[in-house]
Amino acid sequence: MNFALMNFTGVKHAATTSAPVGAADLTVVGGGGHVGIPLVLAFAEAGYRVNVHDTNRAVLETLQSGRLPFIEYGGEDLLAKALKQNRLVFTSSPAEISRTGPLIITIGTPIDEFLNPVRKVVQDCIDALLPHLADGQLLVLRSTVFPGTTEWLDGYLTRNNRALKVAFCPERTVQGHGIKELRETPQIISGTTPAAEAEAGKLFSAIAPELVMVSPREAELAKLFNNAYRYIEFAAANQFYLIAKAAGLDYRRIYDAMKRNYPRARGIPTPGLAAGPCLMKDTAQLAAFAQNQFSLGNAAMLVNEGLVLHICDDLRRRYDLSRMTVGLLGMAFKAEIDDTRASLSYKFKKVLANLAGAVLTTDPFVSTDAELLALEEVIARSDILILCAPHSAYRDLDFAGKPVVDVWGFLAQGERDLVARHAEFVGTRLATLSEGKEGSHALVDAVTKSVRAPAGLWAGIFHMKNNDGSAHESNP
Ligand SMILES: NC(=O)c1ccc[n+]([C@@H]2O[C@H](COP(=O)([O-])OP(=O)(O)OC[C@H]3O[C@@H](n4cnc5c(N)ncnc54)[C@H](O)[C@@H]3O)[C@@H](O)[C@H]2O)c1
Repeated sequence: MNFALMNFTGVKHAATTSAPVGAADLTVVGGGGHVGIPLVLAFAEAGYRVNVHDTNRAVLETLQSGRLPFIEYGGEDLLAKALKQNRLVFTSSPAEISRTGPLIITIGTPIDEFLNPVRKVVQDCIDALLPHLADGQLLVLRSTVFPGTTEWLDGYLTRNNRALKVAFCPERTVQGHGIKELRETPQIISGTTPAAEAEAGKLFSAIAPELVMVSPREAELAKLFNNAYRYIEFAAANQFYLIAKAAGLDYRRIYDAMKRNYPRARGIPTPGLAAGPCLMKDTAQLAAFAQNQFSLGNAAMLVNEGLVLHICDDLRRRYDLSRMTVGLLGMAFKAEIDDTRASLSYKFKKVLANLAGAVLTTDPFVSTDAELLALEEVIARSDILILCAPHSAYRDLDFAGKPVVDVWGFLAQGERDLVARHAEFVGTRLATLSEGKEGSHALVDAVTKSVRAPAGLWAGIFHMKNNDGSAHESNP
């Protein structure tokens, strides 16, 4: 028996009931989203009855059926328990929302196509809810917001003769692992009045290990600084990688040298695609707040977004891509999750669509993209592969001797960056030939052509015999 209670105004097929929502201890607006779900489950686990409010009815129905709409590690057991204990009340219409208890807003807060923050989404959400909220209720903004939004909201409510308490308590957990991280991460608390701050602190003390009390503007900046700093760290790693690559060096070896048993280098991340719905968006929000004087943030965007362009350009210079098929491994924006939002894998796909003969894509987690193919098919049909998301399933794969671009330094076999390997091989070969007074021009010519040839030829070249007659290892 399913104890969850649906309360969808206007939903044709869902049973509705009005009683339970009044019994909710708190409401999470956007409760079916990536931030909302772990938060809902954490409060339910702490004994609260939660009004899960979301305009996306499909997501609510999925939750009500005991399934998560996306990967949230540790979430399914908590959801089953919360449903069993009758702790969740689902609503999708503002008119159905709980008029008692705090309201936590976790809706998406995007930037527009010109990288400007869009405050309107917050205002539209509040405008829809306001007629159904009671004065005295605590309204907590948890979405990442442009600095000043919390004070703006407070003033907006006052101008509309409403007396709700306003707080800003940002979410800082990492996607997919929110349940674990909510238990471990200090919670930043701020309010526009001492009463709002105190009530927000009391609320989050039920699920957070530690509270950090600051003013709303400090909290807004702390959240943006956290994300922008992470984004800049990734950009530094990516730029180091590009510098080493331009110098013809293997960055994996340098990375190991920098970090091994050297505590001050512990935090240096690997290079890789820095993507997802938050890091660049929040760096852009901070840049807008800083009157576009956030030079480090802007540089980080250029490096991180530019990494894809650099790799594509590099491949274009080395191969006749128009006659080749490129396979993209991992379309989620990071490892071991199914979220494709703002994934740089799709930037690869777009750029390569103009350069390559064909682009094939695969991902073991993503279920929302009808163009994805099975991994085996992508490997079999591709001439070159690019590791986009370092899912653990890819680590020990056999790529059938095909070249693989691995910026992350993740694959057990190492990056098969063809030309680097190839140049190494050709160098040895030319030296041998010149010592043996063989004509090297024919080989140089053959090699030059092979650089523009499909994978079959590569396999042939890599398996030529060494001087001692042993097979040349293409996969060290
Ligand atoms: N995803 C993360 O890991 C993460 C981490 C920290 C902070 N944040 C921030 O949290 C916010 C939410 O991010 P997200 O990834 O959870 O977004 P999301 O799109 O996954 O979730 C937002 C949810 O809000 C719902 N929604 C939108 N407008 C609504 C409205 N007016 N009324 C009710 N429901 C509404 C949507 O249907 C959706 O389910 C953003 O500001 C983001 O920057 C995200």
